[in-house]
Amino acid sequence: MAPHGHYVDGDWRTGQGTATFESRSPATRERLGEFARGTPADVEEAVAAAEAAQDEWRALSYIDRAEFLWEIYHELRDRHDELGAVVSRECGKEISEGKADVTEAWHMVEWAAGNARHPHGDVVPSEIAAKDAYMRRKPRGVVGCITPWNFPVAIPFWHMALALVEGNTVVWKPAEQTPYCAQIVAEMFDDTGIPDGVFNMVQGYGDAGNAVVENDAVDTVLFTGSAEVGHSIAEKLGGVPGRDVALEMGGKNAVVVTEEADLDIAVHAAVMSAFKTTGQRCVSAERLVVHEDVYDEFKARFVDLAADVAVGDPLDERTFMGPLADADQVEKFREYNALAREEGVDVLVDRAELADGEIPDGHEDGFWVGPFVYETDYDPELRCISEEVFGPHVALIPYAGGIERAVEIHNAVDYGLAGAVISEDYRQLNYYRDHAEVGLSYGNLPCIGAEVHLPFGGVKKSGHGPASAREAIEAVTERTAWTLNNATEIEMAQGLSATLSTDDG
Ligand code: UN1
Repeated sequence: MAPHGHYVDGDWRTGQGTATFESRSPATRERLGEFARGTPADVEEAVAAAEAAQDEWRALSYIDRAEFLWEIYHELRDRHDELGAVVSRECGKEISEGKADVTEAWHMVEWAAGNARHPHGDVVPSEIAAKDAYMRRKPRGVVGCITPWNFPVAIPFWHMALALVEGNTVVWKPAEQTPYCAQIVAEMFDDTGIPDGVFNMVQGYGDAGNAVVENDAVDTVLFTGSAEVGHSIAEKLGGVPGRDVALEMGGKNAVVVTEEADLDIAVHAAVMSAFKTTGQRCVSAERLVVHEDVYDEFKARFVDLAADVAVGDPLDERTFMGPLADADQVEKFREYNALAREEGVDVLVDRAELADGEIPDGHEDGFWVGPFVYETDYDPELRCISEEVFGPHVALIPYAGGIERAVEIHNAVDYGLAGAVISEDYRQLNYYRDHAEVGLSYGNLPCIGAEVHLPFGGVKKSGHGPASAREAIEAVTERTAWTLNNATEIEMAQGLSATLSTDDG
C-alpha cells in the first residue's frame, strides 16, 4: 500500500521527499500505517497554498466558516468509540483517556464554532460625542500549528478550530509519533469540502516543524510540546516584526498535601495526577509536597496504590496506565530514575522494569514501565525534583511549617504550568490560589483535566504568549480599533486643535 501523504491545497500529496516513516502502537509495536515524511519544500508549498486561500476564507462570515467546523464536531461525536480506540492504539493512553481526547476535541470545536455567533469586539466610548469607536478582531493570516503526540486529536483542535473560525488559514505539522490520528483529522477536513488551501497538513519530523517556524509568511506559530523546542521557537521569532508565537510547554508540577487535608482526596488526587497518561501530560505531577503531620499515612497509602496500579493493554477498560509513547520516553524515564538514585533519594516503589507476568500476552514488545516513587528531603540542588521527566517518576517531599513553606517548595522550579493543593482549610486553599506560580491551579482535585473554556497555559518556563485553548483567540487575531466620525466637522480627542491655521489667518 502506498504511504499516506500530506494534505495540501485540497489534495493528498506524497510530497517532494522520498522518505517515509511508520506509526506503530507503543503497546504491541503493531504497524498502524506508513506516512510520507514531509520536507521543508512540502511545508513551503503548504504555506503558499494557505496564503493564497486567505482572501477567499476571510471574506466568508464567521458563521459560514464555523459551518465547516460543525461538520467535524458531529463526526467526532459520531465516531467517538472508534476514534478513542485509534488514539489509544497509537499513543498508548488507556481507552477512557483515548475517548476523552476525542471529547476534548469536540468541546473545543463546539466552543470555537459557537463563538462565531458571539460578539467579537467592543463598542468603546469616545471623548467626542460624534465619534463611534470599536475594538474589532481581524485574523492574523496564516497560522502554523505544531502539536504533540500526547493529545493527538484534542490539541490540534485547540490550535486549529479557533484559528479557522477567526478567518485564518492553517498549516499543521502533527507529531511524528501520531501520524495516523493526524491522517484521520485531515480526512475529516477534506470531507467537509472546506475551500482548497484553508487547511493544510504536512506529516513529518522536527525539520518540517522548523520549516513552519522559519517561513516568514506564517504570521502566528502555535506550539504545544517540550520546553526545549518551545524556547528555541521563542528565540527565533521573539521580536521579529509581524510574527507572533504562543507556546505551551511542560512542567514539573506538584500537589501540596497540607496537615488539614482529607487524605482520601489527597491520595486519590495524587495517584490521578502522577499516573494518568503514564505521567505523560504536560500537567502531570512529579512532586508530592506533604506536611510532616500526615506524611506517614499519606506515604503508606500512596505507595500501596503505586505498587498495585494496573498497568496494561490500553484497550482494556481495567487498565489505569498504558505504556510510554516511545523508546526515547523509556530511556529518559530510566535515566532520571538512575539520576534520582545517584542523588541519594530513598526509592519506595520501583516498577520501572515490569515483571513478565505484568505485561499482557502479545504485548511483550511494548514500551512498558510502571511507577517509580521515591522520597527525599527538599533540596533545591536535586535535579530529579527540578527537571521534567514526562513519565511515572514521582517524588514525595515532606515539609514542616505552614502553607507558606509548602508553596515556597512548590514554586522553587523553573516551570509553572499546573498544581494542586489538598486541604479542608479555606485559608490554606486561598493562600495557595494566590501564591502558586502556575497557570492552572486546583483545590481538592488532581492537577490534570482542565476544560477547554479555561485558559490553558503556564508561567515561567512553561508558557509564552497567550495561553492555549480558548485564549488562543488572542494569538490568532489582531485587536484593532475602528473609529468613525458622524459629524461634518473634524473634532479631535485630547483637546487637540483641529483648526487649520494658515499664514493668511
Ligand atoms: C497536556 O497536559 O499535555 O488538562 C494537555 C488536561 C487536559 C489537557 C492536557 N485537558 O489534563
